[in-house]
Amino acid sequence: PKVTLINPDDTRTELEVAVGDSVMRAATAAGLDGIVGDCGGGLSCSTCHVVIVDDAYFAKAPEISPTEDQMLDFTAMDREPNSRLSCQLVMTDEMDGLVVRVADPQL
Ligand code: FES
Repeated sequence: PKVTLINPDDTRTELEVAVGDSVMRAATAAGLDGIVGDCGGGLSCSTCHVVIVDDAYFAKAPEISPTEDQMLDFTAMDREPNSRLSCQLVMTDEMDGLVVRVADPQL
């Protein structure tokens, strides 16, 4: 499945993210600066904040856990209605074509 990230400088990066892999992991592996992912996906840093552009994909994404929900209140860029932590956006085939805006700043 493909994911497009809109970077803080408005450039777009398209990534192939394997099913079962998180958007955070794919983005950091690709060397994208906009996603920090300090805690390695442990839901303790909030530096992997993204905003899902299309509501339909927000609905298709894995459910927000209570811990993620709490962490989203401590992101450097204010939370938006479609905010997610990208380490929790684990890819499924259904999510092919997902577009996310990378939060700025992350720290
Ligand atoms: Fe730390 Fe997502 S990588 S909360």
